[in-house]
Amino acid sequence: MVETEAFIDEAIAEIREAIGDANAVIALSGGVDSSVAATLAYEAVGDQLTPVYVDTGLMRKGETEEIRDTFSFMESLRVIEAQERFFDRLAGVTDPEEKRHAIGEGFIDEFETVARDVDADYLVQGTIYPDRIESEGNIKSHHNVGGLPEVVDFEGLVEPVRDLYKDEVREVARELGLEEIISERMPFPGPGLAVRIVGEVTPEKAAVAREATHVVEEELEEYDPWQAFAAVLGKATGVKGDNRVHGWVVAVRSVESRDGMTARAQELDWSTLQRIQSRITGENEDVARVVYDVTHKPPATIEYE
Ligand code: XMP
Repeated sequence: MVETEAFIDEAIAEIREAIGDANAVIALSGGVDSSVAATLAYEAVGDQLTPVYVDTGLMRKGETEEIRDTFSFMESLRVIEAQERFFDRLAGVTDPEEKRHAIGEGFIDEFETVARDVDADYLVQGTIYPDRIESEGNIKSHHNVGGLPEVVDFEGLVEPVRDLYKDEVREVARELGLEEIISERMPFPGPGLAVRIVGEVTPEKAAVAREATHVVEEELEEYDPWQAFAAVLGKATGVKGDNRVHGWVVAVRSVESRDGMTARAQELDWSTLQRIQSRITGENEDVARVVYDVTHKPPATIEYE
């Protein structure tokens, strides 16, 4: 987009006009879309906007701290520590769509509480053009706060990046000075690590997925994958020291893709794979095996659930 600066000025003016003297909330996920929308809206109305970041316990390593740092210029930012409430909701839930629902409902509950607390009349959202196209068809329960407008009776919805494609949003992010970690970050699903854990989500499995994903992201940086992460599949037998153990099976996934609709498993060097394996099993004594997923999409999906 040639006119990034002009877009920013116009977007800020439009948001100011839409919200006026009222209060607004936005769900800040740390993804580039909501980060850009929140920054534009904060520029427009300052602390009349309450950005809400919910730590579900299913975030990537260090993500919550990064959000606090990156958005420390927003005095009204609320970081909600909701880990326990999310793990409670997810206890015993094994069906992938039920998991998504439990998480979606959890998000809505957390936001509703804040929206009522600050008396918000407006909801700002980081919806981008492809989201609007997708939600016209029936994709899946991707948008965690999709149900929010039905729960809270907002006066209006403000979507400052609704006509932009992802690469345009990234350009705006750079122009706004949002750190590279936000503007160039890999896509991360709304339900977070929950879709990278097969079966019930527990704090222990989330910790394994989080640490292993961190290793994968670090080790694969030079391959510049579209998405790379680790998933927890279940348990299998291994040997640690002199003992047989029943430990976690961690799958490593690294894919190339343009839009996530189709994807190719990336070809990695054996030495890279071995380094990943040895770090993941070395750093967590409860991991017994590491496997590499060589399946393209289709037939597999990118995430595990
Ligand atoms: P799949 O696993 O369907 O993923 O091949 C395609 C892309 O969508 C992301 N994804 C999600 N994003 N909520 C999201 O916000 C979800 O429930 C969800 N499931 C998958 C996935 O990370 C990939 O980029």
